[in-house]
Order: sequence, then C-alpha cells, then structure tokens
Amino acid sequence: MSSWFRHPITRRLLLRGSALLGPLSLTATATPALAKTVSTGARPPSDSLGGMTTVGEVDHDRNGFDPHHILTDWDTGAVSRDRFGRTVREFEIVAKDKEIEIAPGVFFPAWTYNGRVPGPTLRVTEGDRVIVRFRNRGSHPHTIHFHGIHSARMDGVPGSGEVAPGGSFVYEFDALPFGCHLYHCHSVPLKRHIHKGLYGAFIIDPDEARHPDTQRAARSRRLGTAENAAWQEFVMVMNGFDTNLDDENEIYAVNTVAHVYAKRPIPIDRKRPVRIYLINVTEFDPLNSFHLHANFFDYYDHGTTLTPTLRIVDTVMQCQAQRGIIEFSYKDHEPGLYMFHAHQTEFVELGWMGFFETKP
Ligand code: CU
Ligand code: CU
Repeated sequence: MSSWFRHPITRRLLLRGSALLGPLSLTATATPALAKTVSTGARPPSDSLGGMTTVGEVDHDRNGFDPHHILTDWDTGAVSRDRFGRTVREFEIVAKDKEIEIAPGVFFPAWTYNGRVPGPTLRVTEGDRVIVRFRNRGSHPHTIHFHGIHSARMDGVPGSGEVAPGGSFVYEFDALPFGCHLYHCHSVPLKRHIHKGLYGAFIIDPDEARHPDTQRAARSRRLGTAENAAWQEFVMVMNGFDTNLDDENEIYAVNTVAHVYAKRPIPIDRKRPVRIYLINVTEFDPLNSFHLHANFFDYYDHGTTLTPTLRIVDTVMQCQAQRGIIEFSYKDHEPGLYMFHAHQTEFVELGWMGFFETKP
C-alpha cells in the first residue's frame, strides 16, 4: 500500500540517499562475474555478491537468533498424554520488546515472541491437544491468534484472549487441520502488531492413521518418521520491515535478516528431496512470492492436502497469511549455487534473495 501522497519521503528516495542507511549497498543488476560464479558452483566473489546484497554482517549473537537455525529449529513442545492416551503438547510463549538488527547496521524496534522474529516454529501432529501458555511482558496488549480450527474463546482477538502487559492467558485447542499454518498477534492496530514481529510458523503434520489411502505421503510429512527423515525440510517466513514509519518496507527478507541466505547459502544434499514450509507475513505489500532458479517444484496450498495443488511451477505468489508447502529436488543437477527469491524484483535488492548450495 503506497503512502506516496501522504508522505513525500518514500523508501525509494531514502535508498537513493544511501547515507541514511549507512552500510547498505544496494544495486539493481547482477554482474556477469556473478553469473559466471553461479554456473561454476564456486562461492560468490565478494562480500556484496557483485553488488547484489547488503555489505557487512549482522550480529546474530546480539539478536539472540540466527536465521540459519530458524530454518530447522522445530519446537515440538513439552509432550505428555491425557487420560484418553492422546498426545498433549505444551508451549511457553512470552511477548517482549526487543531491538533487532535486520540488515548490517540497521536496527528495528521489534515486538517479539520469545525474543525472536519470527517466533518459535511450533510443530505438532494432527489431533494433538495443544496448550500454549502465553505471557505478555511487552509494552502493549497482545494476543496469539492461531490459524487453525478452535473455539471463539481461543481465537486470540481483542475481547477474547487478549493479554494486557504483565498478564497471561492459556490457549488450548486440538491441532486441526493438518497443514502449514501460522500464528500472529491480533491486537489493534493489527498492521502494526503483525509488522512489528509478532508472528511465527505453526505446522501440523498429518497423522497417517487418519489417512489410510495416503499413508505413505502422510508419513513423509510427519516429523520423527523414517520417511520424513529422508527429506530436507526448511521453514521460510517471508517478512518485511518499515524502518521509517512511512507504511512501506525498506527491508525484505526470509526469516528477518536481509540477504542472510545469499551470503551464507543453505547447504543441501542434492540426493535428498527438499521441502519448504513457506509463509507470507509481509505487511504493507499485497503480495509476496517465491521463485526457484533452474528448477521446478510442486506446491500444496496451505499444506492441507497430500497431493499437490500446483504441479511443475517455478513461482508461487502468496497474499499476507497465505502459505504452502514447496517440494523439489536437485538430484539431476550439477553441484552449484542455485538462487531463490521473490519475483517482486524490487524485494530482491532490498533483501529477499538467497542461494541453495548443492553438494556433490
Ligand atoms: Cu500485539
Ligand atoms: Cu491471520
């Protein structure tokens, strides 16, 4: 949503005056040097990948989280059984204010779940009882609104599960339906509460006992099975940051830090298939997207089916809160660096671009 008419200063003007952003160096085109590097599979030649990325390093220790860990750090909760023998998973989530570095030298006053953006990736199995103990230690009222099936009392909106600073609430529901979901704060103004960083992935793996005709596909999706272990799974939350309060994003990313997977490519074993849980929480822009280079993938919209809803595509778009599962393989490709990025190309230069590095 453009605020051009209300605010004559836009991110484009700001980025042209790059002094304001200090260490950022953003250029529009890939150089021949980079193209050559990609085709030979060697590491990119310079710190800024031929002028395509930010320059310098973000201090992940100071942030308290590393986007490379966020790719795979499933939180499966504290597990117990209820009197019916059903699995119960309990989670603790604390909202707190925290300044985070989203690009080298660019700091953002975030509101976080458990001190990180995105919040913890909650991973459960279809039919589990889920208990989320939420404490608000932030400076504003917050909620956790889950995308899933639950009662009105557990919806996490103002008037139903909203928590004042210092307060707490327990959300409790059955994990349904299986798929790739999300949670986020639903306090008002909603766009600010989401954009400040209060969101995370919520993955419900299918229970193969409930899907007798597609047991194998269900087991491949359920964490802990041998079929699932054959896959390389990553969670990617597409987000953006408005650093100057003009209702436009200056920085775009997957899992918060601009270009983090461009500078440190995601290593993949090319013999094993890849599955991405892709979620769009980008505020202010109506759409975000994912494009994979030199390959095509199958896509499961919302992850709520065991057969693809799109086959053999290399680009998908998502509106805010839309999400899905992407599956592909590089087994027949030569080893090298394979790019992925939003195909809103403006987002690429502003942080939303990375590489998979396939190993022989
Ligand atoms: Cu909030
Ligand atoms: Cu939502």
